[in-house]
Amino acid sequence: MAEIRKAAALGGGVIGAGWVARLLENGIDVAVYDPAPEAERRLQAVLDNAERAYARLTLAPRPKKGVLTFHASLAEAVKDAELIVESVPERLDIKQKVYAEAEAAAGPQAIIASSTSGILPSDLQAGMTHPERLVVAHPFNPVYLLPLVELVGGKQTAPETIERAKAIYAAIGMHPLHIRKEIEAFVADRLLEAVWRECLWLVTDGIATTGEIDDAIRYGFGLRWAQMGIFETYRIAGGEAGMRHFMAQFGPCLKWPWTKLTDVPEFNDALVDLVAGQSDEQSGRHSIRELERIRDDNLIAILQALKVNDWGAGKTLADYERRLFDAGAGAAANDSDISQPIVTLERRVPADWTDYNNHMNESRYLQCFADASDALLRMIGVDADYVASGGSYFTVETHIRHIDEVAALEPIRATTQVLEAKGKKLRLFHRLSHVDGRELATGEHLLIHVNLENRRAAEPAPAIAAKAAELAAAHADLAWPEEAGRAVGQAR
Ligand SMILES: NC(=O)c1ccc[n+]([C@@H]2O[C@H](COP(=O)([O-])OP(=O)(O)OC[C@H]3O[C@@H](n4cnc5c(N)ncnc54)[C@H](O)[C@@H]3O)[C@@H](O)[C@H]2O)c1
Repeated sequence: MAEIRKAAALGGGVIGAGWVARLLENGIDVAVYDPAPEAERRLQAVLDNAERAYARLTLAPRPKKGVLTFHASLAEAVKDAELIVESVPERLDIKQKVYAEAEAAAGPQAIIASSTSGILPSDLQAGMTHPERLVVAHPFNPVYLLPLVELVGGKQTAPETIERAKAIYAAIGMHPLHIRKEIEAFVADRLLEAVWRECLWLVTDGIATTGEIDDAIRYGFGLRWAQMGIFETYRIAGGEAGMRHFMAQFGPCLKWPWTKLTDVPEFNDALVDLVAGQSDEQSGRHSIRELERIRDDNLIAILQALKVNDWGAGKTLADYERRLFDAGAGAAANDSDISQPIVTLERRVPADWTDYNNHMNESRYLQCFADASDALLRMIGVDADYVASGGSYFTVETHIRHIDEVAALEPIRATTQVLEAKGKKLRLFHRLSHVDGRELATGEHLLIHVNLENRRAAEPAPAIAAKAAELAAAHADLAWPEEAGRAVGQAR
């Protein structure tokens, strides 16, 4: 599904590591260059958190993870890369030096994407041999979860570079936002900087502590911002008369001394001590890695809630999953040896699928089988379009045998044998196992094709029936599973 196969990451700090995680999780190989002695260890900690986060974020089949390599030289890392992600410290001279080295070793087509938070792309590309390939791709921490990436071109950036970058980032689950005019700090950081300055005033003036300010955000407008931003929110705040009324009502406030946005508190040791001291008191009981996991879990919950409503960042997630499911079904349809039971599910047990013993809950065994049935249905053509046209399969009977336990994050897979596909009936037999070969459960399911308009059993479309019959015929020579057709309580 990805637009590219190979990327290079120059700099593997907070942001570089987040990029590496997102790229690897989307099946892209990443070659990393970072001269810091601790870089590899720090990067691995971020990759571990990202793997945990993705297992919770989506159950859609994802491509096989990309391969991570570390390189002793920048030239080696960028060789063959289609995308070069630069996340080195925020200094123009360092970045320009990195581009010179990268251009000397990279292919002419490679895009160079800077993570800079605020430097103008025209300045970044000033000394480049191929300045048309440079684009700012400004991400947000954690890069592996937050979909926004601001794309900003400089005076010499080619429009094709922007278009190509849009496609690359959309394919890895992001929402590329093209900022058409370059300006220091782009859009999002300008907003954040304004709020940050005001926060520093509130702390310096002793109006509120760091914790109180965070509460003022997270219990109120922070929740609104996650789903509608500021303009749509204020439009609603204007009541039925909308934005015009809102502006008429609050316009005069703009002249009041409500903010000190153009003024900043003096940045000195006393300010740092005050803010950092309060922050320690507020959050010091958690390590940074713990805070990252808490943050990730909360973000995932918000993204999934927004996904249910197909709205904002949740819509980006829904679109991404739809593409993953289709790509997974397409790959299964093309690659499967249909003379054997078909691999219909491959995933790690999501951490929140487990009970107090850290083992997968009983109900999740059914979820795995339901997802395996779904994957098989997609293979025979029962996709979103077919369902929208009014046909689907409903499960009418299930028999699950629970054989073994499996812990959170362990890799599991399901295979599916088509026992019968005749008319409206589709009878499936799934085996769920650990990838180490341990059998975890079997599930037998009878599905009936229905007409979604009258909710009655009905014949499937001929193409669906033919594809189901093809699989049933291919599986006819397989041994009949000895567990199939058993009543509850019958031993092997
Ligand atoms: N931290 C954020 O929240 C954030 C958000 C968006 C964008 N950014 C931008 O991302 C970039 C990186 O920021 P960060 O927060 O990850 O910084 P960081 O200090 O965590 O990481 C920078 C990394 O670059 C490495 N490095 C230094 N010189 C290098 C070189 N010549 N070649 C390769 N690697 C080199 C360092 O060893 C370090 O690991 C900056 O441009 C920053 O403005 C940061």
